Amino acid sequence: MALALDSFCRELPKVELHAHLNGSLSRDTMLQLKRFHADSGLADQTNAFFDEFQVGAGDTRKLSDCFQVFSIAHTLTSTPETLALATTLTLQDFQDDGCCYLELRSTPRDTPHMTKVSYIETIIQTIQKSSRHLTMITRLIVSINRNSTCSEIDEITNLAIQYYKNYPDIVVGLEISGDPTVGSFQTFVPALNKARAAGLKISLHCGEVCNPQEVMDMLKFKPDRIGHGICIHPNYGGTDETWAKLCELKIPVEVCLTSNVNTKSSPDYDSHHFKHLYEAEIPVIICTDDKGVFSTSLSQEYRICAETFNLTPSKLARLSLNACQYIFADDTRKMLNDKLLNFINKNAL
Ligand code: IMP
Ligand code: ZN
Repeated sequence: MALALDSFCRELPKVELHAHLNGSLSRDTMLQLKRFHADSGLADQTNAFFDEFQVGAGDTRKLSDCFQVFSIAHTLTSTPETLALATTLTLQDFQDDGCCYLELRSTPRDTPHMTKVSYIETIIQTIQKSSRHLTMITRLIVSINRNSTCSEIDEITNLAIQYYKNYPDIVVGLEISGDPTVGSFQTFVPALNKARAAGLKISLHCGEVCNPQEVMDMLKFKPDRIGHGICIHPNYGGTDETWAKLCELKIPVEVCLTSNVNTKSSPDYDSHHFKHLYEAEIPVIICTDDKGVFSTSLSQEYRICAETFNLTPSKLARLSLNACQYIFADDTRKMLNDKLLNFINKNAL
């Protein structure tokens, strides 16, 4: 039975809407990247390196400590060549896991070998190249880190708008992520308004830590989707008002079960807020967040969701079908929808 559910979850066409590139690098991808950095002094520290990168269920690091692990991946993706390789291998991983549509997100950054412009161009070109041999459709969401200065916020927003205009078939959105204890949402509002006016969709990491005022401000902004949405229900660090607002607006929530459990944002799977969202009929999309850091996959997240909340294969398939409604690439929605409906009919779900 467990095996059957396992293979069902892999075969189910899935939609991934919350995946950070540098958190999604598999062990194999990191090994391949390390070959490009053989002379950087990291070559002999393979085990320590991987142990630090991966945040398991019993990890003693606090949520804010977990943000340091990304610098490990960043050292491996600091040139256009390694960034392109990381992107290529990560897209292949998602397709191999049965993902039919991916919205990859990443934070453009300057490195000694690359500007933010070459960072974003490299990812766009790699997505274009990969689309020639992959069946999975990939789109890009540009990320802004909460620790950014005002000039960085403007710079990245302008880049996102410029590349959205030049590559509307690749760039679809802008999102805010990074350590939720740092920075203030209000700082980002002018840039987000500008991006939205230009046509970009917006996703916000929302309610990762208890901060009802910020959650309320974010919900009132009416983003197209929110990530995590943990501290919104009053049982989880939200208030009656924040929960009522989410129920009223029904903003789709990108739910990342293993990420929340491994960072102890949720004590265990059973008490995860998914059940409140699902019962309140708030749209939920099962996502991985950082499949490399949390040693997971999208099919594994679907399986965990089914096992924890007693969802039948039919309900799982409908979760994936519903997710198609909330993708940012409007032009591919119907095609994905039909693909899911075919799967549901073929398997008599
Ligand atoms: P990158 O944007 O491709 O470099 O992916 C890594 C970045 O994603 C991190 O530096 C964080 O800013 C962001 N990130 C990854 N996971 C989370 C999360 O759970 N909450 C908030 N931000 C995250
Ligand atoms: Zn995230």
